Amino acid sequence: MAEFDIIIYGATGFTGRLVAEYLVQNYAGDSLTWAMAGRSLTKLEEVLDAVGAPATTPLITANADDPAALKAMTARATVVITTVGPYTLYGEPLLAACVETGTAYVDLCGEPNFMHAMIAKYDAAAKASGARIVFSCGFDSIPFDLGVWTVEQECIRRFGKPAPRVKGRVRAMKGTFSGGTFASGKATAAAAMKDPAVFKALIDPFALTPGFEGPSQPKGVLPEYDEAIGAWVAPFMMAVINTKNVHRTNFLAGHPYGEDFRYDEMMVAPGLGDLGKAAAEAIAKMNPMNSDKGPAPGEGPSKEERDAGHYDIAFIAEMPDGQSITATVKGDRDPGYGSTSKMIAESALCLVRDVKGEGGITTPGAIMPEALIKRLEAHAGLSFSID
Ligand SMILES: NC(=O)c1ccc[n+]([C@@H]2O[C@H](COP(=O)([O-])OP(=O)(O)OC[C@H]3O[C@@H](n4cnc5c(N)ncnc54)[C@H](OP(=O)(O)O)[C@@H]3O)[C@@H](O)[C@H]2O)c1
Repeated sequence: MAEFDIIIYGATGFTGRLVAEYLVQNYAGDSLTWAMAGRSLTKLEEVLDAVGAPATTPLITANADDPAALKAMTARATVVITTVGPYTLYGEPLLAACVETGTAYVDLCGEPNFMHAMIAKYDAAAKASGARIVFSCGFDSIPFDLGVWTVEQECIRRFGKPAPRVKGRVRAMKGTFSGGTFASGKATAAAAMKDPAVFKALIDPFALTPGFEGPSQPKGVLPEYDEAIGAWVAPFMMAVINTKNVHRTNFLAGHPYGEDFRYDEMMVAPGLGDLGKAAAEAIAKMNPMNSDKGPAPGEGPSKEERDAGHYDIAFIAEMPDGQSITATVKGDRDPGYGSTSKMIAESALCLVRDVKGEGGITTPGAIMPEALIKRLEAHAGLSFSID
């Protein structure tokens, strides 16, 4: 039994603070034991007040570049939630500490180059120590990972086999991004500019399935008319992360979606005909990460913006004989922060309370699909349905 069920590392950041607030608002009076951690005690004390946490909430200081302090911290927890990013810059020592102390770890990583490198370096050690390391427990990539899992389960139930082709189609999404996400996008781009191997990992759909390469995947880089939904679709920025996680889930679970599985994600453009086409072309040209100016670390969408946000994603499974099944995943709040903070908190709770699972670097879809869907529907404003 560890001293704490959960430690939130990065509680002073924009997203970490929302995670702390979520636990305060939803798990007060529960038997959950948790602490907040970061590099600055003064800042942690400010957050404690700001989120209304009990004054007795333990505060732990550890800098991301101090392996001894990190190890002393991870040894005290069953699960560490980390929102200290960019993970490419600050993530490895914490992950290494969790692997060493056999502590479960959940993060919000949307940096495939980091994930690719960490799998190569720490997966075997995590298996040996029993540390359950789960990347991408936010909007990247839970709704996508578990949306594909949901529609494939239904195909297996109804047709006796999985669909070899699934299309993720983002029908609606309202929200903006934070300074931490902007910095992480920049850190990933900088790493790719410096190192061709990083660039290769970013464009390889199978970068997170070492030793396995499936069939050629739809590129999803140009607007196109999609007969399956009767609308124009445009490239979706997060696809580069989510598609890799979906393939990793399939890989880790022994290919329940088949070894010939093909998957892409696109944004559905508003409007019909030429209007839809023009909208898809406009979306394809937008890339907020291309700008030099973005929010600073610690900044992000206001409470009003978070509360007004939402998303709606369709997962269309196509069988070779022309039959198809669509699953829908919806979430309340803005995807990146309001919804993400709930998703990562519930992922950690799921590892504490609902699933055991073996050590290793895994995905939500591989280690806890059913239990996490139940939690997200019960507590986090998500719904998973078959149309
Ligand atoms: N996957 C998703 O859907 C999703 C959604 C949201 C966010 N994210 C990711 O989550 C990460 C955090 O985003 P954010 O907007 O919350 O970032 P943020 O506001 O900049 O917060 C970053 C946190 O990291 C801490 N930190 C920075 N350097 C540190 C160090 N050397 N030692 C210890 N702590 C350190 C900061 O501490 P101080 O307060 O002391 O500076 C702060 O607590 C980013 O990588 C972002 O891309 C992903």
